[in-house]
Amino acid sequence: MNQLSDASLLGASPWWRPNPGTCLVIQGGNPLVGTYAVSGAKNAVLPLMVSALLTPHLVTLHNVPASLDVAVLSNLLQRLGAHLNWSTGGAGLSLTICADRVHPTQIDRDLVARMRASILLLGALLARCGEACLPMPGGDAIGLRGIDFHIAGLRAMGAIIDLSGGLIHAVAPNGLHGADIWLPQPSVGATENLLLAAVLATGETVIRNAAREPEIADLAHCLTRMGAALGGIGGDVLTVQGGKALAGAARSVMPDRIELGTIACAAAVTNGEVLLRHAGLRLLGAAGPALVSAGVALQEVPDGLIARRAPTGLTGLDIQTRPYPGFATDLQSPAMAMLATASGASAITETIFEQRFRHVDELRKMGANIGVHGTTALVRGVDRLVGARVMATDVRAAAALVLAGLGAKGETILDGLDHLDRGYDRMAEKLVSCGAAITRSKMS
Ligand code: UD1
Repeated sequence: MNQLSDASLLGASPWWRPNPGTCLVIQGGNPLVGTYAVSGAKNAVLPLMVSALLTPHLVTLHNVPASLDVAVLSNLLQRLGAHLNWSTGGAGLSLTICADRVHPTQIDRDLVARMRASILLLGALLARCGEACLPMPGGDAIGLRGIDFHIAGLRAMGAIIDLSGGLIHAVAPNGLHGADIWLPQPSVGATENLLLAAVLATGETVIRNAAREPEIADLAHCLTRMGAALGGIGGDVLTVQGGKALAGAARSVMPDRIELGTIACAAAVTNGEVLLRHAGLRLLGAAGPALVSAGVALQEVPDGLIARRAPTGLTGLDIQTRPYPGFATDLQSPAMAMLATASGASAITETIFEQRFRHVDELRKMGANIGVHGTTALVRGVDRLVGARVMATDVRAAAALVLAGLGAKGETILDGLDHLDRGYDRMAEKLVSCGAAITRSKMS
């Protein structure tokens, strides 16, 4: 199978430079010092890009991160008939999407199968075209990651959905209609999918136990700007008065709170001092105070947040991942990499995904003392990690291993770079500008 970063799979994202077969070589020990520009959020930009399928008018997004997931979704949108126009200048990339015609069945199954967020196409295509046919979505191997909430919600809105042969075939012969939907868990993707569908469905939709992640509010504000009537934005009950044709809109993608938290931990681990531009403490939810209590000093300044190690040093911390505003599961692995060298022990409990400890074995290769007991990892801090050859198994694990490598003694070689590139806009390059010793090299 081709690597995801092969140019052939990506189509025209002129800014994307594929790097198949490369690894990162990190010489640990340099303190990170300088300014790090936090990019637009991966988890916000993907649903925003999909929202452009809901209107024949132009949707322009600014502060778009130059990440592999964005390149893949761009290709998917193009194959569905949308025209994409990229420009640079200001923060990040700007992308204008014109979906004046959409061909709902012209989907690239290989690309969809590799990207979890492609499930969002289901709600948008059903709402706009009355039909959609997608393979089951792929993405990180971090748990079962069912799509039953998405399917049940869309069925409640009148969709007829057949799941067989690894495909999701959905039709809404009479269009979608509003429904009162309760999510068994506050799923981010299901909330977004149902929002995307509801804005074109006739009548009122209520989504109860909705996820409250800020990226959902970003999508909701964009839909509102397009003319949708939404209530309860930011809360756990969202209401949509649907059925109105939507106009175009322009929106700047919110900053990536996961990148923010990860680099703040990296500044503390390396005993450096980094100004994280474009981001504030509020975005981190419960992770902000938690990181502070572990010894990550965070100081808000007008253009961002300064992160450094507190004079008291890093100390153990107990964490339970929770839906927003709780401690983000996406920050669990970076926090673990940091706590691996904190003084004392930390108990880290993962409550969102069942298989999100695959980075533990890699951190152990670097000398971390971590025991896993069911859904809890017990981390006993060691003085220092030691460089090793490690493999990234998902997007956030990749970032965690970069962080571990920055603090470690000697050389760390990180394989599985597709995962890092999927989620982050030139993270390694931005770290180098803060003094990190990182190079990309052909895998040997
Ligand atoms: C999104 C984020 C991901 C983050 C996660 C949780 C994007 C592109 N990805 O993923 O970075 O880690 O939220 O904050 O935004 N579930 C079901 N059935 C469903 C839907 C979800 O059982 O139909 C379960 C999942 O298996 C998981 C939990 O609900 O255990 C939360 O998943 P969800 O919030 O949907 O995560 P994603 O939207 O996939």
